[in-house]
Amino acid sequence: MKEFIINSPLDMHLHLRDDDMLKLVAPLTSNYFSGALIMPNLLPPITTKEALFKYKQKINEACEGDDFKPHLTIFFQVDYTYEFLKNIQDEIIAVKLYPFGVTTNSETGVSSMDVEVLRPTLESMSKLGIPLCVHGETKGFVMDREKEFLPIYESLAINFPDLKIIMEHISSKESIKLFKKYDNLYATITIHHLLLTLDDLAGGMLNPYVFCKPIVKRPDDRQALLELALSAHPKVMFGSDSAPHPKNAKECHHGAAGVFTAPIVLQILTQLFEEYEKLDNLNAFVSLNAQRNYNLKVKNKTIKLVKKDFTIPASYKYKKEEVVPMFSGKTIPWSIEKN
Ligand code: NCD
Ligand code: ZN
Repeated sequence: MKEFIINSPLDMHLHLRDDDMLKLVAPLTSNYFSGALIMPNLLPPITTKEALFKYKQKINEACEGDDFKPHLTIFFQVDYTYEFLKNIQDEIIAVKLYPFGVTTNSETGVSSMDVEVLRPTLESMSKLGIPLCVHGETKGFVMDREKEFLPIYESLAINFPDLKIIMEHISSKESIKLFKKYDNLYATITIHHLLLTLDDLAGGMLNPYVFCKPIVKRPDDRQALLELALSAHPKVMFGSDSAPHPKNAKECHHGAAGVFTAPIVLQILTQLFEEYEKLDNLNAFVSLNAQRNYNLKVKNKTIKLVKKDFTIPASYKYKKEEVVPMFSGKTIPWSIEKN
């Protein structure tokens, strides 16, 4: 195989940030993707129509060309009214729920995951057909946080059977089992959870560039996720969770959680699906499943991958911002052919 075409790739979990960081990272996705689901965890988070419009405009200005559609989300609040949600519905693809303090910029997340506390907002969303994206982790032992959250996912799935619930960036084999049990549970998977385990983060020298929430886990978790992604299960979608942090916020005491992968995801996915002889499923995993699950009309975009070495840059810079991608300096066998 010397070349491979991906049609209208979609990244269903992406952090674009704000200001100069937004200007730096937005083109690295918008040049190669047809659309992306943009996370709302700015400081302060996106919770109003005004903030949403402003952010959408900044994103559009930061993206090159007009063949990329950012799908925005708002940050879950327990006091969103039915009227508010109805009024904002056409501007968003989903609402993202963060439990308090479990990841970067989640300090204003929900402090109780009790179904009765969440019910008013979730009932409105369910009636309006607005999907719910969830960062599913507790504050327990770091390797078990996702597993401990599964009963909450289960109770949400049972209590709101008409609500589409997306288990974001699943990282453990237990999550896969639950995801298969309920029709209204969907999932996204990142490339780092398909490639890495805790050993890559902390088994040798510490690698802050693969530190993220949820943390990368055991070999059997990685293997189970890989099988799910390679099979392109219809409810599973690619979501990079590319989450840029400035270099000095990664290489320091109290390093930030988040892996920056935007510029390498399509090349790595092609490499991975080729290695396991599953290239036939790649378009479903990076585009068709999301189109169907989210009822999306996509901007047509053909991305040609060619078998040509690509050395991942040491970093990407814009003005004072500098961000280091996962695998910086490594050479991978697939490149994106420039138009
Ligand atoms: C993300 C970020 O930096 O915004 N960090 C991460 O480790 N994945 C937030 C998130 O998606 O959890
Ligand atoms: Zn994220």
